[in-house]
Amino acid sequence: MNPKVEKALNEQIHAEFFSFYLYLSVSAYFTAIHLEGFAHWMRIQAQEESGHAMKLFDFLNERGGTVKLLPIDAPTREWASPSAAVETVLNHERAISERINKLVDLATSENDHATTVMLHWYVSEQVEEEATADTLFHQVKMVESNPHGLLMIDRELAARPAPVAATQGE
Ligand code: FEO
Repeated sequence: MNPKVEKALNEQIHAEFFSFYLYLSVSAYFTAIHLEGFAHWMRIQAQEESGHAMKLFDFLNERGGTVKLLPIDAPTREWASPSAAVETVLNHERAISERINKLVDLATSENDHATTVMLHWYVSEQVEEEATADTLFHQVKMVESNPHGLLMIDRELAARPAPVAATQGE
């Protein structure tokens, strides 16, 4: 496998596992402030992130690349408000989208068509994840001074179903 692409995919596996960690940390924060619906939603998202990492892990193996797992830093643990926690998630998703776009650029310039096609799934996924985080952030901002509104969002988030197959990242 092209060594530049292999290295970049390993770095993306790392970024997705960091996302897993970050969402878990946000989930723990929401549990600590008794917003269990938010905590549930973030925990489900963490599962999705682990799926994103594993999809790349499987692809690298399938293509004869070498998986090299990297150390994961501790994520932020505390936020000043629910909207600040959701804003961290939104900014993180934007940064992940930039990374994915750069990966597509690299795979394309290296003529690695298999990787380019595989990454298209991530490009679409990022459009959805950014949009979801953006909506949630703005809704939380809108109701932040109104506990009733926050509890209504909390109830909605509690209904998020678990991913069908976490390891598929779907
Ligand atoms: Fe795997 Fe939320 O990006």
